[in-house]
Amino acid sequence: MTDVDQSLDLDHQHLLDRDCTTLSRHVLQQLQSFSAEAQDLSALMNRIALAAKLIARRLTRAGLVEDALGFTGRTNVQGESVKKMDVFANQVFISVFEQSGLVCRLASEEMEKPYYIPENCPIGRYTLLYDPIDGSSNVDINLNVGSIFAVRRQEGEDLDGSAKDLLQNGRKQIAAGYVLYGPSTMLVYSIGKGVHAFTLDPSLGEFILSSENIRIPDHGPVYSVNEGNFWQWDDPIRDYIRYVHRHEGYTARYSGALVGDVHRILFQGGVFLYPGTVKKPEGKLRLLYESAPLAFLIEQAGGRASTGTQDILDVIPDKVHTRTPLVIGSKEDVTLVESFIQERDREQKEREILTSQP
Ligand code: AHG
Ligand code: MN
Ligand code: MN
Repeated sequence: MTDVDQSLDLDHQHLLDRDCTTLSRHVLQQLQSFSAEAQDLSALMNRIALAAKLIARRLTRAGLVEDALGFTGRTNVQGESVKKMDVFANQVFISVFEQSGLVCRLASEEMEKPYYIPENCPIGRYTLLYDPIDGSSNVDINLNVGSIFAVRRQEGEDLDGSAKDLLQNGRKQIAAGYVLYGPSTMLVYSIGKGVHAFTLDPSLGEFILSSENIRIPDHGPVYSVNEGNFWQWDDPIRDYIRYVHRHEGYTARYSGALVGDVHRILFQGGVFLYPGTVKKPEGKLRLLYESAPLAFLIEQAGGRASTGTQDILDVIPDKVHTRTPLVIGSKEDVTLVESFIQERDREQKEREILTSQP
């Protein structure tokens, strides 16, 4: 065999290895085990991948299919107008998990209370938390949207159906990730062993490993925030934005879909913010199925996620749909935003001490 033949052979081997690293195989490789728990987690990720493929298929043809786009005319538990794609995608996740034996409960943005699959409950000790379509406002104009998911182990029997055990911090997540429906469909996930990205190969109908062990840069140029809310924010957030305006090396990017913005930041660095506003002091994003899964992922990639005063993964929600302000991305950029908030708190304390002195 000549050197050229040999290198071609190696190239082919390399390409085939790449093509063969499917999501379920990758999960098992990561866990280095064929235990029942590892098999469950692998099957769970496989089901999420199936949901992603079904949603991607509908999105690809949405403009041609009757009743795929537009509003339903209803509002969800958050008071937001529900789109037909929200309902479809919500139902897709339920359908792929029904009769799977894998999860007992599903909790989503689109359902006031968790959905139980009673026949799974004796065996499926997991709960899936998800945002079926993130960035719904992009759907009707064919821009990128996403799905966000997290898996938690069910604790206790939940006999009264209150799902109280879900009201715990984000460190209880055993898997989390998102699907980005863009020019390609990508699935990015972590089971606490780094962050890995898969790209859907439509000819194979499989998610194939495309980036392993992704590390987010410690600092990046992007700041991603809805500046239309500028006058609704507290002073420290306004001061941070004034800071980036006055310093070189920053650039604004905001897509209207958290998944898309966080995806860019994961690969290129920077910070995404959705702070509290006058109308919504806790911001807009929901902890259990938006902020906490992304925080888990970004921390696994070496970044940070904060409310501005506390790590997102330490926040304990008081209900399934609790919202928190979110500052997420590169370590140094998140810490810089926090420093503006700390500065204000310090000044406030000093003023209080001064005014309390006789
Ligand atoms: P969803 O479509 O699940 O309700 O989430 C939309 C979120 C998020 O994706 C995005 O970053 C943010 O809302 C955009 O909100 P604004 O239009 O207020 O900027
Ligand atoms: Mn969302
Ligand atoms: Mn949504």
